[in-house]
Amino acid sequence: MGRAFGYVILGGGVAAGYAALEFVRHLDGGGASPGELCIISDEAVAPYERPALSKGYLLPRGAARLPGFHTCAGANDELLTEQWYKDHGIELVLGTRVVSADVRRKTLLTITGETISYKTLIVATGARALKLDEFGVHGSGAANMCYLRSLEDADKMVGVMRSCHGGNAVVIGGGYIGMECAAALVANEIKVTMVFPGKHCMDRFFTPKIAEFYENYYAAKGVTFIKGARVTSFEALSDGKVAAAILRDGRRLPADMVVVGIGARANTALFDGQLAMEKGGIRVNGRMQTSDAAVYAVGDVAAFPVALLGGDVRRFEHVDCARRTARRAVAAILEPADGAAEVGKNDSDYLPFFYSRVFALSWQFYGDNVGEPVHFGDFSPPGAGGRPKFGACWVSDGLVAGVFLEGGSQEENEAVASAVRCGARIGDLAAELESRGLALPGQE
Ligand code: FDA
Ligand code: NAD
Repeated sequence: MGRAFGYVILGGGVAAGYAALEFVRHLDGGGASPGELCIISDEAVAPYERPALSKGYLLPRGAARLPGFHTCAGANDELLTEQWYKDHGIELVLGTRVVSADVRRKTLLTITGETISYKTLIVATGARALKLDEFGVHGSGAANMCYLRSLEDADKMVGVMRSCHGGNAVVIGGGYIGMECAAALVANEIKVTMVFPGKHCMDRFFTPKIAEFYENYYAAKGVTFIKGARVTSFEALSDGKVAAAILRDGRRLPADMVVVGIGARANTALFDGQLAMEKGGIRVNGRMQTSDAAVYAVGDVAAFPVALLGGDVRRFEHVDCARRTARRAVAAILEPADGAAEVGKNDSDYLPFFYSRVFALSWQFYGDNVGEPVHFGDFSPPGAGGRPKFGACWVSDGLVAGVFLEGGSQEENEAVASAVRCGARIGDLAAELESRGLALPGQE
């Protein structure tokens, strides 16, 4: 059995939702005709804004729930419910895993045995959470152990948190998931111990000084940090739950629940040996086209050249990138003559952008964290109800390569983004920040 489509989007996450909206905006009549466009996803629901899973979805009160955070709510754009896809002639093939792909034949084989063929394929398979088992630590299947990548994972975590009120959680990993989930656990009145191998949290990105601020802030909320440490095994109960995490040095951490966030891997396996790969993802050009002209790749899975970074090929596991690369691919597919060479509709200036929100804090980062970091602002703990404001500029050859800003207003975030985008000299950014009461040391 089989079906044929003009365009197939493989994966039903953030990039898929933004690609669908872009298709509809480009297609004549504002919708697809039968057999024109389908999305295949192994998730049971239409594309949603994944960042909500570690923030609003885990709140003890007033939690975010679908349909409220389907794409493209995160960009304050249309809310694409399942009905929206129906209304626009887009076939949603949900709960269906693609198990193999044949790029030469332009076909995908689903777990149900169906062959779906395409003229043009957009690969939007995202990334998967790394499992502890891959590092030789077993217990990931335990009823009280949580990973967080999908809505299904988030539902499990909500259920486990409800059964652990007042109890102890061990959070393994000090990256994005670890930090955001620890904040959610505290909000749910669960005592948190974070364990990770690095010297400080977010060690691939934060400077020690930035990390120190967040660690102190978390400690004031009751979070305990065990740094430079690894969990090597779990003590199991007879009911399929873990009771404690055991560290390499023998320490035993009692656990009513465990949350694991130890990194992600792009889902490229379907295309191994068929498409060119780079940086752990599928190599694409500035039009998001892979080494096969009929196949595009977007979102977490795509490694693309970034003009602002001197044409360096990069892969970003961040939502803004998923949104922009999805729009870029669709524009390139449907307007093949458009001359733009880079991501971002008809522009040549994709600017890497990440953010996070935890407790009452909110940071944004633009650019690249290369060169020397120069800190600015007040890193002292905020008083009750106070909002901290500080940051760091990464300076390379006197130019601003990246800026991190905690507590910035929209206007301030836009100002630093534009400084990074135009490669401002550090002196110019210092003057801009000073006019906003954020003096850079040594630049006054
Ligand atoms: P995404 O993972 O969204 O979608 C991939 C889709 O493909 C999924 O539906 C998956 O099930 C499906 N799929 C994969 N293989 C398949 C197969 N073989 N067959 C069928 N379907 C398949 N970023 C940020 O900038 N700020 C933030 O605050 C956050 N917060 C955040 C929280 C949490 C909990 C996570 C997990 C991630 C974030 N992120 C983030 C990262 C951001 O969500 C991420 O970069 C985007 O979701 C990437 O979008 P994609 O569409 O590429 O992958
Ligand atoms: P991460 O790479 O941010 O952090 C991984 C953490 O796990 C690090 O602290 C690392 O030292 C630690 N670690 C690595 N191997 C380990 C091991 N064997 N044992 C114990 N600790 C180990 O990854 P993550 O936090 O799992 O995030 C997963 C994905 O979700 C990423 O793609 C991330 O970009 C995305 N995400 C992004 C945001 C955001 O942008 N705000 C929020 C949540 C998730």
